[in-house]
Amino acid sequence: MNILVTGGIGYIGSHTVVELMNRGYNPIIIDNLVNSDIEVVDRIEKITGKRPVFEKVEMCNMDELRNFFTKYLQIDAVIHFAALLAVNESVEKPLLYYHNNLVSTLNLLQCMQDFNIKDIVFSSSCTVYGEPDILPVDEFAPIKPAMSPYGNTKKICEDILTDTTKVTEIRSILLRYFNPIGAHETALIGEFQDGVPHHLIPYITETASGKREKLRIFGNDYNTPDGTCLRDYIHVVDIAIAHIAAIERLKISNENKIEVFNLGTGIGYSVLDMVNAFENATGIKINYEIVARRPGDVEAVYADTRLANKELNWKAERTLEEMMRSAWEWEKMLGKGK
Ligand code: UFG
Repeated sequence: MNILVTGGIGYIGSHTVVELMNRGYNPIIIDNLVNSDIEVVDRIEKITGKRPVFEKVEMCNMDELRNFFTKYLQIDAVIHFAALLAVNESVEKPLLYYHNNLVSTLNLLQCMQDFNIKDIVFSSSCTVYGEPDILPVDEFAPIKPAMSPYGNTKKICEDILTDTTKVTEIRSILLRYFNPIGAHETALIGEFQDGVPHHLIPYITETASGKREKLRIFGNDYNTPDGTCLRDYIHVVDIAIAHIAAIERLKISNENKIEVFNLGTGIGYSVLDMVNAFENATGIKINYEIVARRPGDVEAVYADTRLANKELNWKAERTLEEMMRSAWEWEKMLGKGK
């Protein structure tokens, strides 16, 4: 099966491409190289022994995208990762975020309709739940007003897909990721950092490597067991594997036009739990200080994963220790400039 993977050399995209290839699928990657490195194609080849097809395509340019589909007529399904994803940047540049994330998705769906491609898996986020009223949060929980333009683009794309699936032959699975972390066991692919990391784990690994002086923990006065926020951290390879389960489900199920699944482990860990887990996995002490809360942070969010476990026949399997070890191996690899 030929699977179009948009954003396929990004963090989650590249891990998904590897898992697809490991299972005999034929991924076709498009990426505009705005937030990604073409060298990842070589690294995927190193891991899998086979070079994936790659085309540089700007999805917001309909002519470019249409040309791509004209060239590759045999696409069986699409996994749509391509998006801008820095929450802070989206607050500063809302037009850039709305334009990029929405126009690319609209163009993609138009092409899928025109070229008669029916199945799409979409990267969504637990950000659509905001601060959930009930934990663990399940897929039927109310969608809350978005905390950022980035979060709003995920919500709007979910709406676009919901409305489109109602009146076209397109079928979709929306995967709501919790907090993907870690890297491939080979340390050849992972999350590249451009400047100061926004996310917790790269901040921890950069503090461990000496690149950052200390981790700042944003608030310890939340209503949680140790006062720091709770999140559902999940290994990126587990997230990647869920996409294959979603593709397989789309190919066998006829009646469901759109489905939504949470991708998490179901466990809420605090920021301090994560610091301890890193220290235990690597033996390296993390220098940290508690500072004020970060505006826009939710107190606690972790997934009810039962629906994904049952319907996708998928379960996150990698441990917190594996997440931390792989994140650290990746950081060391980055430090070597490889
Ligand atoms: N944190 C720190 N110090 C840091 C970085 C993070 O204490 O330097 C804390 C945060 O306050 C939060 C936790 O670590 O409590 C996790 O923060 P991340 O930035 O790693 O992840 P978020 O849960 O904030 O972000 C996730 C997704 C986003 C999504 C967002 C909104 O990564 O894509 O949830 O729900 F938009």
